[in-house]
Parts: sequence; structure tokens; C-alpha cells
Amino acid sequence: MSQIVIIGTQWGDEGKGKIVDLLSVQADIIVRFQGGNNAGHTLVVGGKQVILHLIPSGILHPGKLCIIGNGVVIDPVVLVSEMDELKSKGHFTDDEMLKISQEAHIIMPYHKSIDLAREAKRKKGKIGTTGRGIGPAYEDKASRIGFRAGELADPKRFRERLETVLPEKNFYLEKYLETDPLDIDEVYDTVIAAAERMVPHLDNTSAILARRITAGDHVMFEGAQGTLLDIDHGTYPFVTSSHTVSGNAAVGSGVGPRDIDAVYGITKAYTTRVGAGPFPTELTDGIGNRLQEVGCEFGATTGRRRRCGWLDAVALRHAVRLNSLSGLIITKLDVMSGIDPIRICTSYTIDDQVHTDFPADTKSLERVVPSYIEVPGWTEDISQIRSFDDLPVNARLYIKTIEELLDVPAAVVSVGPDREQTIIITHPFGASS
Ligand code: GDP
Ligand code: IMO
Ligand code: MG
Repeated sequence: MSQIVIIGTQWGDEGKGKIVDLLSVQADIIVRFQGGNNAGHTLVVGGKQVILHLIPSGILHPGKLCIIGNGVVIDPVVLVSEMDELKSKGHFTDDEMLKISQEAHIIMPYHKSIDLAREAKRKKGKIGTTGRGIGPAYEDKASRIGFRAGELADPKRFRERLETVLPEKNFYLEKYLETDPLDIDEVYDTVIAAAERMVPHLDNTSAILARRITAGDHVMFEGAQGTLLDIDHGTYPFVTSSHTVSGNAAVGSGVGPRDIDAVYGITKAYTTRVGAGPFPTELTDGIGNRLQEVGCEFGATTGRRRRCGWLDAVALRHAVRLNSLSGLIITKLDVMSGIDPIRICTSYTIDDQVHTDFPADTKSLERVVPSYIEVPGWTEDISQIRSFDDLPVNARLYIKTIEELLDVPAAVVSVGPDREQTIIITHPFGASS
């Protein structure tokens, strides 16, 4: 396999960063294709942690090309601070490692103000956004008044356009959201100061990808968020503002669908969700607390506690179908040690009707009564195991049960946060390890 997509199958935070970092050894190019710095991807190498929000998780591997694709929304200030942080830790030593699409949209300071003020104003129905301006930036992209990264190379023209866009934003901020308007000089200075560091990385990334794919390079497309946060296919309106499913890897990076060979879906061995919205298998009891504590389930971007629950095969089958998954990557299996029995949701009952398909009417998700099967647990610490056959029999049974319920084989099992704490069953890039 030359071109693979890695996406989250749940509500984000499945361990995409860890897996993309691990698989980057076999890739030549790693591409982010959607989302922005609402993402928080955690990499742990030799016990040292790096959290990435915008830069692809291949950046710790010298010699790889990391691309921020056209489908991403970029906060230039966050990008520059992430670049500096990586450099201060001895990574990203060659500026040629990062290319940014000229077509990617910019998160402007007013996008953040609008995001925060809207959430604060909502009495009920708060989405629990990350407050990073993601939704308002994608709104402006769709409204065709957004700023694209390429425009930052011409500060004079940027200023002229800002003079036409900002008054409308300030009117909305002041008169409707009842918050402070922004000063044009401050907005301009903030964005242009950061842009000076960003502009040298701008390029026609779609054309670069086309050339490199033709030359036989291996590309890995790194999803952010998860399938259930997709703007169409997720639990709308409690979703993010981009398409998180695998099809967007093509659109969001400027390659054609036939350039993608395989799609791997990452799923935690249980389920988590950060922010508001329905969560049929949520556990508010001691087991939920245990998963939260043992799994260290705090948001990598906002530090919020993640809600926890049992694995949900109804939601996962939805993800298998939407992403046309070739294989599963199951993370955090180590967190399940000591839980016995383990439950997996296999159907929903809504108003006395049994559903095995994830409902398109997300309002009805609030009324779901989940039906579970039980599988026996195990007690051993599995974090040092590196081969599937060495796992306790019930841990293997749990994986096999998931494979059967979803009809997709597991390619990788993760048993700890470190790059090394991984069991490869079938290598996603095809070569056995
Ligand atoms: P992402 O957004 O999908 O990249 O995931 P996050 O980084 O937000 O959250 C996943 C968390 O789980 C991070 O703290 C990872 O270091 C950690 N993690 C990843 N895989 C494993 C695993 O197999 N076991 C354990 N215990 N932690 C893991
Ligand atoms: P990674 O890539 C988990 C959630 C927010 C909120 C909703 C909308 O680390 O898996 P937004 O700021 O995007 O408008 O917020 O989406 N959310 C995430 N949850 N992981 C993420 O990213 C997320 N990115 C956004 O909590 O519920
Ligand atoms: Mg995350």
C-alpha cells in the first residue's frame, strides 16, 4: 500500500497522533487534510511527550515531508508557536520538512472571539467547542469571505480586504454577541507578524503530492477529530465544522480518490467524548470513572475531562461504512485490564424499536437504550506485550469479538502511549515489521 488514510472512528482522541507517528517510519509524506488546532495529537517517544495541534504527526521523523493541506484551517499564531516549540525540543531541524497549502484558510482573531462569545451566549444547547475559532473560519470559507494562506504573502492586499471584512465582524460581535469589537491594526499586526514565518512554507501542495505519488512515494493522510464529529455524518449539531471521514482526505489535500489505497480506522478499546452531545454508551458510574482515570482521559487541547463509556459497535459499524475501512487499529487496550466483564453495545432500542444502524436522526440518540453483549475480562498488565499471541486469551477474545462485530480485521493493537508499546498484526503499509 502506498497511500493510506488514518482516521478516528469515534468522537476523536482515539490515538491518531501516536499511530501516525509510529507509521511515519514507512511514509515519505504525512498530510493533515481537515480541522485545525481544535485537534490535539499526543506523541510519546522514549517517555517524552509532544502534543501537536496543526503540524502533522510525522514531524518527529527527520527527512519526511509534512503537509498542511488545503482543507485545514490555520491559526498563524498557533502554527508559529508550535514550530518554535518543536525546534526548542530539537525537532523540525529542517524548514523544508513543512509545506503549507496556499489554499488553506486562516483562522482570524475575530473567528476565535465569535466562537467564544457564541458559546458563552448560548443558555442551553452549548456545543462545548474548543473555542479555537474553527466553526467561524469554515463559515467564512463557505461564505467566500475567508482569507486563504496564499493571501498572507501580500500584506497590502490583505490589509485592504481586512478593511472590508472586519466592520461586518465587529458589528456582529458588538451588536449581537455583546462583546468587544477588534481593532484593525491589532488584527493586522498579529496576523502579519506570524505570517512572516508561515509564508516561506507556502506552496502548491496538491501539485507536490501529485508529483511525489507518481514518483512512488508513500503518503499517509492524518485525520483529525473522529467520524462522529463529521459535519454531515456525526451527531449534528454536536460536531465539528469539517468532514472528518476518509473521503475528505482526497478533497482536503487535493488528490483524486483513486490515489488512496487503504483506510485504517482508529478505535479506542472503549469510547470517549469531550464536549456536549449524545453518547449512548456513556458510563457515569465507577467504571466510567475508572476508564477516565486509568486512561488519563483529559483533552489534549482544552484539558477538559473526557466522558467515557463502553465500546459501541453500532456507532463503529457506521464508521466502517462511511470510511470504507480496510483495517482497524485498536488503541488503549491496556486500559481495559482489570475490568470484568467487558460490555460492547450491539444494538440500540429507540421507542421500542431495535436499531442496528446508527440513526441519521440524531435527536433520537438521546432516547437510546443500548443492548450489550458481555465478554470476560483479564487482569494482567499487558503494556509490555509486543505480540498478539502473547496477549491474555480474553484480551485476544475481545479483539476477535470486535473484528467479528465490525467485519473488519485488526491490523494494529496499541497497549500504551509510547511509540514502542504497539503490536503490529498486519502492517498498514504492507511490509511486515
Ligand atoms: P488523538 O487526538 O487521536 O491523537 O488522541 P489524543 O492524543 O488526543 O488522546 C489519546 C491519548 O491516549 C494520548 O494521551 C495518548 O498518549 C494516549 N494513548 C495512545 N495510545 C494509547 C494506548 O494504547 N494506551 C494508553 N494507555 N494510552 C494511549
Ligand atoms: P482530535 O484530533 C475530540 C469536539 C469539541 C466539541 C466539538 C466542536 O484531537 O481527535 P470545535 O472546536 O471543533 O468547533 O468543537 O468537537 N472536538 C474534538 N473532540 N478530539 C478532537 O480532535 C476534537 N476537535 C473538536 O470538543 O465537542
Ligand atoms: Mg486529541
